[in-house]
Amino acid sequence: MKILLTGSAGFIGFHTTLYFLKRKHEVIGIDNINSYYDIKLKQARLKILEKYKKFSFYKIDLKNNNKLLRIFKNNKFDVVIHLAAQAGVRNSISDPNTYLDSNLVGFFNLIELVRKFKTNKFIFASTSSVYGHQNVDKFKENLNTDKPIQFYAATKKSNEVIAYSYSHLFNIKTIGLRFFTVYGPFGRPDMALFKFTKNIIENKPIEIFNHGNHFRDFTYINDIVKGIYLATKKNQKKTNFRIYNLGKGQSISLKKFISQIELILNKKAIKKYLPMQKGDTLKTYSNINLAKKDLGYYPTTEYKSGIKQFINWYKKFYKI
Ligand SMILES: NC(=O)c1ccc[n+]([C@@H]2O[C@H](COP(=O)([O-])OP(=O)(O)OC[C@H]3O[C@@H](n4cnc5c(N)ncnc54)[C@H](O)[C@@H]3O)[C@@H](O)[C@H]2O)c1
Repeated sequence: MKILLTGSAGFIGFHTTLYFLKRKHEVIGIDNINSYYDIKLKQARLKILEKYKKFSFYKIDLKNNNKLLRIFKNNKFDVVIHLAAQAGVRNSISDPNTYLDSNLVGFFNLIELVRKFKTNKFIFASTSSVYGHQNVDKFKENLNTDKPIQFYAATKKSNEVIAYSYSHLFNIKTIGLRFFTVYGPFGRPDMALFKFTKNIIENKPIEIFNHGNHFRDFTYINDIVKGIYLATKKNQKKTNFRIYNLGKGQSISLKKFISQIELILNKKAIKKYLPMQKGDTLKTYSNINLAKKDLGYYPTTEYKSGIKQFINWYKKFYKI
């Protein structure tokens, strides 16, 4: 396959690109390498990808339509995997403009080119955040997601709705993937596992929101990447548009998660308990039956072994 992958310098984009390159596919990666978090981490990921002959990289912002157009004019893609976005739930409350630019304008620019150049398949990242507050145990794709509780979720829900209309009008085979709290090596510095590990090692307090009474469906990066791969393989003759949950299908308490980090680091955290943050959800828990049935998606990494793999990477990468 010849793949256009947006956000290839990002956490999930890096791992996904690597997966396809290792299997001899050609990947053209784009990313604006913004400074939402340390760009050295993004550069380190790119350095690994650039070792592969079948990888080319362009530093492009999705807002820049002319540059994007040139990429589409010069290449015929079998699939576009769109992972670039402004991520982060809490940050979207204080800095909504970046979300508007990257997640809405950027998304529109890209899907327009997918339409114009008749790309066979379009896969994009959505999020468990679209579920907001729910009065159910597990989140199933057909739950009502009309009430996002922060702007990040609102932009991602909008992506799903825009993509549906494009797929309906222009027969674009489209899959939206709702990722659940993804973690693992080369992970994002703004996310819990990274922050907790860093602060415990550096003897700094860790901030625990909602007094630790959160539950998250932590999903290991390799399982997510496998899910994205399976989405590229999905035969979509009957229906053009699909949404799938990609989670582990297990909801772990934050307290348990932290205990496991302490156990592996062999060190107690200095804990600073804080109230629930605006825009946060109490619990995420994926029902992954649809992805199992349709894609053959069976996540395998348990959180204990996933945390261990992250910490091993962290110590090696930061030479601790
Ligand atoms: N990590 C998670 O737990 C999680 C959960 C649900 C959904 N997602 C979604 O998965 C995707 C990947 O997330 P991630 O965790 O790898 O985040 P990330 O921030 O590591 O990666 C996103 C990449 O997109 C790039 N980018 C942002 N705006 C851009 C723009 N306008 N033009 C070009 N590049 C741009 C960034 O520089 C970054 O490298 C995102 O769409 C995110 O919303 C992630």
